[in-house]
Amino acid sequence: MSTDVSALVPQRIGVHPLTGHIGAEIDGVDLRQPLAPAVVAEIRAALQSWKVVFFRDQPLSHAEHVAFASAFGAPTIGHPVYGFVEGHPQVYAVARDRLADRHTGDLLVRPWTGWHSDVTAAVNPPAASILRGVVIPPYGGDTLWTNLAEAYNGLSETLRGFVDTLRGVHQFSPPEGQQATDGFVQKNAARPLVSEHPLVRVIPETGERVLFVSPSFLKRITGLTPRESQQLLELLFEHVTRPEYTVRFRWHPGSVAFWDNRTTAHLAPRDIFSLDFDRQLYRITLRGDVPVGVDGRPSLAIKGDPIDAYPA
Ligand code: SIN
Repeated sequence: MSTDVSALVPQRIGVHPLTGHIGAEIDGVDLRQPLAPAVVAEIRAALQSWKVVFFRDQPLSHAEHVAFASAFGAPTIGHPVYGFVEGHPQVYAVARDRLADRHTGDLLVRPWTGWHSDVTAAVNPPAASILRGVVIPPYGGDTLWTNLAEAYNGLSETLRGFVDTLRGVHQFSPPEGQQATDGFVQKNAARPLVSEHPLVRVIPETGERVLFVSPSFLKRITGLTPRESQQLLELLFEHVTRPEYTVRFRWHPGSVAFWDNRTTAHLAPRDIFSLDFDRQLYRITLRGDVPVGVDGRPSLAIKGDPIDAYPA
Protein backbone atom coordinates (compact mmCIF):
# COMPACT_ATOMS: atom_id res chain seq x y z
CA MET A 1 0.00 0.00 0.00
CA SER A 2 1.44 3.41 -0.98
CA THR A 3 1.64 6.24 1.54
CA ASP A 4 -0.66 9.21 1.03
CA VAL A 5 1.98 11.96 1.05
CA SER A 6 -0.64 14.71 1.47
CA ALA A 7 -1.50 13.22 4.86
CA LEU A 8 2.06 13.97 6.00
CA VAL A 9 1.81 17.68 5.14
CA PRO A 10 0.34 19.55 8.10
CA GLN A 11 -2.95 21.14 7.07
CA ARG A 12 -3.39 24.42 8.89
CA ILE A 13 -6.88 25.26 7.69
CA GLY A 14 -9.99 23.22 6.92
CA VAL A 15 -11.50 23.66 3.43
CA HIS A 16 -15.10 22.44 3.07
CA PRO A 17 -16.57 22.64 -0.46
CA LEU A 18 -20.18 23.77 -0.69
CA THR A 19 -21.17 22.81 -4.26
CA GLY A 20 -19.75 20.85 -7.18
CA HIS A 21 -18.23 23.86 -8.93
CA ILE A 22 -17.86 26.84 -6.63
CA GLY A 23 -17.55 27.93 -3.01
CA ALA A 24 -15.82 26.48 0.04
CA GLU A 25 -16.04 27.35 3.70
CA ILE A 26 -12.70 27.67 5.49
CA ASP A 27 -12.20 27.12 9.21
CA GLY A 28 -9.23 26.81 11.55
CA VAL A 29 -7.98 30.37 11.10
CA ASP A 30 -8.40 33.67 12.97
CA LEU A 31 -8.36 36.48 10.42
CA ARG A 32 -7.67 39.12 13.10
CA GLN A 33 -4.15 37.71 13.57
CA PRO A 34 -1.22 38.07 11.16
CA LEU A 35 -1.27 34.98 8.92
CA ALA A 36 1.72 32.67 8.49
CA PRO A 37 2.91 32.47 4.85
CA ALA A 38 1.84 28.81 4.73
CA VAL A 39 -1.70 29.74 5.76
CA VAL A 40 -1.82 32.49 3.14
CA ALA A 41 -0.69 29.91 0.56
CA GLU A 42 -3.41 27.45 1.63
CA ILE A 43 -6.13 30.11 1.42
CA ARG A 44 -4.83 31.13 -2.02
CA ALA A 45 -4.93 27.51 -3.17
CA ALA A 46 -8.50 27.12 -1.90
CA LEU A 47 -9.49 30.34 -3.69
CA GLN A 48 -7.92 29.13 -6.92
CA SER A 49 -9.89 25.87 -6.74
CA TRP A 50 -13.22 27.15 -5.40
CA LYS A 51 -13.27 30.80 -6.69
CA VAL A 52 -15.00 32.11 -3.55
CA VAL A 53 -14.19 31.13 0.02
CA PHE A 54 -16.14 31.91 3.17
CA PHE A 55 -15.12 32.37 6.79
CA ARG A 56 -17.39 32.48 9.84
CA ASP A 57 -17.16 34.29 13.18
CA GLN A 58 -14.51 36.83 12.15
CA PRO A 59 -15.52 40.13 13.79
CA LEU A 60 -12.92 42.27 11.99
CA SER A 61 -12.44 46.01 12.49
CA HIS A 62 -11.81 48.12 9.37
CA ALA A 63 -8.07 48.07 10.14
CA GLU A 64 -8.05 44.26 10.58
CA HIS A 65 -9.98 43.91 7.32
CA VAL A 66 -7.31 45.99 5.54
CA ALA A 67 -4.50 43.95 7.15
CA PHE A 68 -6.09 40.64 6.11
CA ALA A 69 -6.66 41.86 2.54
CA SER A 70 -3.08 43.15 2.33
CA ALA A 71 -1.75 39.62 2.89
CA PHE A 72 -3.17 38.72 -0.55
CA GLY A 73 -2.50 41.81 -2.65
CA ALA A 74 -2.65 45.58 -2.77
CA PRO A 75 -5.94 47.14 -1.61
CA THR A 76 -7.33 49.88 -3.88
CA ILE A 77 -9.38 52.92 -2.94
CA GLY A 78 -12.72 51.65 -1.52
CA HIS A 79 -14.59 52.32 -4.77
CA PRO A 80 -13.11 54.37 -7.65
CA VAL A 81 -16.46 56.03 -8.43
CA TYR A 82 -18.61 55.73 -5.30
CA GLY A 83 -16.05 56.51 -2.62
CA PHE A 84 -15.09 54.99 0.73
CA VAL A 85 -15.72 54.96 4.46
CA GLU A 86 -14.64 58.19 6.15
CA GLY A 87 -11.20 57.65 7.70
CA HIS A 88 -10.76 54.26 5.96
CA PRO A 89 -9.93 54.98 2.30
CA GLN A 90 -9.57 51.31 1.34
CA VAL A 91 -13.01 50.31 2.64
CA TYR A 92 -16.26 50.62 0.66
CA ALA A 93 -19.55 50.58 2.56
CA VAL A 94 -22.03 48.11 1.06
CA ALA A 95 -25.09 49.67 2.66
CA ARG A 96 -28.60 48.35 2.12
CA ASP A 97 -29.84 51.43 0.24
CA ARG A 98 -26.61 52.49 -1.47
CA LEU A 99 -28.17 52.28 -4.95
CA ALA A 100 -31.22 54.40 -4.03
CA ASP A 101 -29.41 57.70 -4.69
CA ARG A 102 -28.03 56.48 -8.04
CA HIS A 103 -31.10 55.36 -10.02
CA THR A 104 -34.83 55.97 -10.08
CA GLY A 105 -37.73 54.38 -11.94
CA ASP A 106 -38.89 50.84 -12.62
CA LEU A 107 -36.14 48.31 -13.15
CA LEU A 108 -36.51 45.94 -16.11
CA VAL A 109 -35.76 42.68 -14.28
CA ARG A 110 -34.32 39.84 -16.31
CA PRO A 111 -32.73 36.60 -15.05
CA TRP A 112 -29.23 38.13 -15.11
CA THR A 113 -30.16 41.60 -13.82
CA GLY A 114 -27.73 42.74 -11.13
CA TRP A 115 -25.10 40.04 -11.76
CA HIS A 116 -21.65 41.58 -12.10
CA SER A 117 -17.95 41.29 -11.41
CA ASP A 118 -16.65 44.29 -9.49
CA VAL A 119 -15.67 47.43 -11.43
CA THR A 120 -15.17 45.81 -14.86
CA ALA A 121 -15.57 49.28 -16.40
CA ALA A 122 -11.93 49.81 -15.34
CA VAL A 123 -9.14 48.57 -17.61
CA ASN A 124 -7.75 46.57 -14.66
CA PRO A 125 -10.77 45.37 -12.66
CA PRO A 126 -9.96 44.23 -9.11
CA ALA A 127 -8.29 40.82 -8.86
CA ALA A 128 -10.30 39.93 -5.78
CA SER A 129 -12.83 41.34 -3.33
CA ILE A 130 -13.24 40.69 0.38
CA LEU A 131 -16.66 41.43 1.84
CA ARG A 132 -17.45 41.25 5.55
CA GLY A 133 -20.87 41.20 7.14
CA VAL A 134 -21.59 43.44 10.15
CA VAL A 135 -25.37 44.06 10.28
CA ILE A 136 -27.21 41.09 8.81
CA PRO A 137 -30.98 40.58 8.58
CA PRO A 138 -32.36 37.62 10.58
CA TYR A 139 -33.47 36.14 7.26
CA GLY A 140 -32.96 37.13 3.62
CA GLY A 141 -30.05 39.07 2.16
CA ASP A 142 -28.06 36.14 0.76
CA THR A 143 -25.44 36.71 -1.96
CA LEU A 144 -24.84 34.44 -4.97
CA TRP A 145 -21.62 33.84 -6.94
CA THR A 146 -21.08 32.03 -10.23
CA ASN A 147 -17.99 30.31 -11.64
CA LEU A 148 -17.15 31.91 -15.01
CA ALA A 149 -14.43 29.36 -15.83
CA GLU A 150 -16.88 26.48 -15.44
CA ALA A 151 -19.45 28.44 -17.46
CA TYR A 152 -16.88 28.78 -20.27
CA ASN A 153 -16.27 25.02 -20.17
CA GLY A 154 -20.03 24.46 -20.40
CA LEU A 155 -20.30 26.11 -23.84
CA SER A 156 -20.07 24.01 -27.01
CA GLU A 157 -16.61 23.83 -28.55
CA THR A 158 -17.93 25.77 -31.55
CA LEU A 159 -19.28 28.66 -29.47
CA ARG A 160 -16.12 28.68 -27.32
CA GLY A 161 -14.11 29.10 -30.53
CA PHE A 162 -16.24 32.09 -31.53
CA VAL A 163 -16.33 33.88 -28.16
CA ASP A 164 -12.56 33.39 -27.86
CA THR A 165 -12.23 35.96 -30.69
CA LEU A 166 -14.60 38.61 -29.27
CA ARG A 167 -14.20 41.74 -27.18
CA GLY A 168 -16.81 43.91 -25.49
CA VAL A 169 -17.27 47.36 -23.94
CA HIS A 170 -17.89 47.67 -20.18
CA GLN A 171 -19.19 50.85 -18.52
CA PHE A 172 -21.28 52.13 -15.62
CA SER A 173 -24.82 53.06 -16.66
CA PRO A 174 -28.22 52.90 -14.97
CA PRO A 175 -29.80 49.45 -15.14
CA GLU A 176 -32.34 48.96 -17.94
CA GLY A 177 -35.61 50.78 -17.32
CA GLN A 178 -34.08 53.12 -14.72
CA GLN A 179 -32.87 56.72 -14.98
CA ALA A 180 -29.65 58.09 -13.57
CA THR A 181 -29.91 60.57 -10.69
CA ASP A 182 -27.84 63.77 -10.77
CA GLY A 183 -25.50 62.15 -8.23
CA PHE A 184 -24.88 59.18 -10.54
CA VAL A 185 -24.19 61.48 -13.51
CA GLN A 186 -21.84 63.70 -11.50
CA LYS A 187 -19.86 60.84 -9.95
CA ASN A 188 -19.42 59.05 -13.27
CA ALA A 189 -18.46 62.28 -15.04
CA ALA A 190 -15.86 62.99 -12.35
CA ARG A 191 -14.29 59.52 -12.75
CA PRO A 192 -15.34 58.18 -16.18
CA LEU A 193 -14.50 54.52 -16.68
CA VAL A 194 -15.09 52.71 -19.97
CA SER A 195 -13.00 49.74 -21.12
CA GLU A 196 -12.89 47.11 -23.82
CA HIS A 197 -12.12 43.63 -22.48
CA PRO A 198 -11.82 40.25 -24.19
CA LEU A 199 -14.98 38.17 -23.70
CA VAL A 200 -12.67 35.33 -22.73
CA ARG A 201 -9.72 36.15 -20.51
CA VAL A 202 -6.86 33.83 -19.70
CA ILE A 203 -5.77 33.58 -16.07
CA PRO A 204 -1.95 33.85 -16.10
CA GLU A 205 -1.11 31.50 -13.23
CA THR A 206 -3.38 28.63 -14.34
CA GLY A 207 -3.98 29.14 -18.07
CA GLU A 208 -7.70 28.79 -17.28
CA ARG A 209 -10.09 30.46 -19.75
CA VAL A 210 -12.89 32.49 -18.22
CA LEU A 211 -16.07 33.82 -19.81
CA PHE A 212 -15.43 37.38 -18.64
CA VAL A 213 -18.96 38.72 -18.99
CA SER A 214 -20.22 41.06 -16.29
CA PRO A 215 -23.94 41.53 -17.05
CA SER A 216 -24.33 44.91 -15.27
CA PHE A 217 -21.38 46.51 -17.07
CA LEU A 218 -20.86 44.73 -20.42
CA LYS A 219 -22.95 46.77 -22.88
CA ARG A 220 -22.01 45.61 -26.38
CA ILE A 221 -19.75 43.28 -28.32
CA THR A 222 -17.29 45.04 -30.60
CA GLY A 223 -17.76 44.40 -34.32
CA LEU A 224 -21.28 42.92 -34.14
CA THR A 225 -24.51 44.68 -35.13
CA PRO A 226 -26.57 45.91 -32.15
CA ARG A 227 -29.05 43.03 -32.61
CA GLU A 228 -26.33 40.37 -32.92
CA SER A 229 -24.59 41.80 -29.87
CA GLN A 230 -27.78 41.93 -27.78
CA GLN A 231 -28.83 38.38 -28.64
CA LEU A 232 -25.40 36.87 -28.02
CA LEU A 233 -24.95 38.77 -24.75
CA GLU A 234 -28.36 37.59 -23.55
CA LEU A 235 -27.42 33.99 -24.36
CA LEU A 236 -24.11 34.33 -22.47
CA PHE A 237 -25.62 36.18 -19.49
CA GLU A 238 -28.32 33.54 -19.16
CA HIS A 239 -25.70 30.81 -19.46
CA VAL A 240 -23.28 32.13 -16.81
CA THR A 241 -26.09 32.51 -14.26
CA ARG A 242 -27.33 28.92 -14.59
CA PRO A 243 -27.79 27.48 -11.08
CA GLU A 244 -25.26 24.66 -11.53
CA TYR A 245 -22.41 27.19 -11.71
CA THR A 246 -23.50 29.07 -8.58
CA VAL A 247 -23.30 29.06 -4.80
CA ARG A 248 -25.61 30.94 -2.43
CA PHE A 249 -24.24 32.27 0.86
CA ARG A 250 -26.22 32.92 4.02
CA TRP A 251 -24.58 35.74 5.96
CA HIS A 252 -24.20 36.10 9.72
CA PRO A 253 -22.50 38.98 11.54
CA GLY A 254 -18.76 38.23 11.31
CA SER A 255 -19.01 36.25 8.05
CA VAL A 256 -16.40 37.05 5.39
CA ALA A 257 -16.57 36.22 1.66
CA PHE A 258 -13.35 36.37 -0.38
CA TRP A 259 -13.77 35.96 -4.14
CA ASP A 260 -11.59 35.87 -7.21
CA ASN A 261 -13.11 38.75 -9.17
CA ARG A 262 -11.48 37.55 -12.41
CA THR A 263 -13.21 34.17 -12.45
CA THR A 264 -16.58 34.92 -10.80
CA ALA A 265 -19.59 37.20 -11.01
CA HIS A 266 -21.95 37.80 -8.10
CA LEU A 267 -25.43 39.02 -7.31
CA ALA A 268 -26.38 41.25 -4.37
CA PRO A 269 -29.76 40.40 -2.83
CA ARG A 270 -32.98 42.20 -3.74
CA ASP A 271 -35.28 40.50 -1.21
CA ILE A 272 -33.99 42.90 1.46
CA PHE A 273 -35.98 45.70 -0.18
CA SER A 274 -39.24 43.99 0.84
CA LEU A 275 -38.03 43.60 4.44
CA ASP A 276 -37.61 46.26 7.12
CA PHE A 277 -34.26 44.95 8.36
CA ASP A 278 -31.01 46.82 7.94
CA ARG A 279 -28.01 45.22 6.18
CA GLN A 280 -24.47 46.60 6.32
CA LEU A 281 -21.36 45.01 4.88
CA TYR A 282 -17.91 46.39 4.04
CA ARG A 283 -15.78 45.53 1.02
CA ILE A 284 -12.10 45.81 0.11
CA THR A 285 -10.89 45.16 -3.42
CA LEU A 286 -7.38 44.15 -4.45
CA ARG A 287 -5.63 45.75 -7.42
CA GLY A 288 -6.01 43.71 -10.60
CA ASP A 289 -4.01 43.14 -13.77
CA VAL A 290 -5.14 44.21 -17.23
CA PRO A 291 -6.97 41.14 -18.65
CA VAL A 292 -5.47 39.36 -21.64
CA GLY A 293 -7.49 37.45 -24.23
CA VAL A 294 -6.87 34.10 -25.89
CA ASP A 295 -5.06 35.93 -28.72
CA GLY A 296 -2.71 37.61 -26.23
CA ARG A 297 -4.28 41.07 -26.68
CA PRO A 298 -4.75 43.06 -23.47
CA SER A 299 -7.85 45.07 -22.60
CA LEU A 300 -8.03 48.68 -23.68
CA ALA A 301 -8.96 51.75 -21.61
CA ILE A 302 -11.46 53.83 -23.60
CA LYS A 303 -11.97 56.33 -20.75
CA GLY A 304 -10.28 56.60 -17.39
CA ASP A 305 -7.10 55.48 -15.67
CA PRO A 306 -6.24 52.09 -14.19
CA ILE A 307 -7.24 51.57 -10.55
CA ASP A 308 -4.08 51.77 -8.49
CA ALA A 309 -3.26 50.52 -5.03
CA TYR A 310 -4.12 52.94 -2.22
CA PRO A 311 -1.92 54.74 -1.38
CA ALA A 312 -0.31 54.47 -4.82
C1 SIN B 1 -21.26 43.54 -3.96
O1 SIN B 1 -21.84 43.61 -5.04
O2 SIN B 1 -20.02 43.60 -3.89
C2 SIN B 1 -22.05 43.37 -2.68
C3 SIN B 1 -22.76 42.08 -2.60
C4 SIN B 1 -23.81 42.06 -1.53
O3 SIN B 1 -24.33 43.12 -1.14
O4 SIN B 1 -24.16 40.98 -1.09
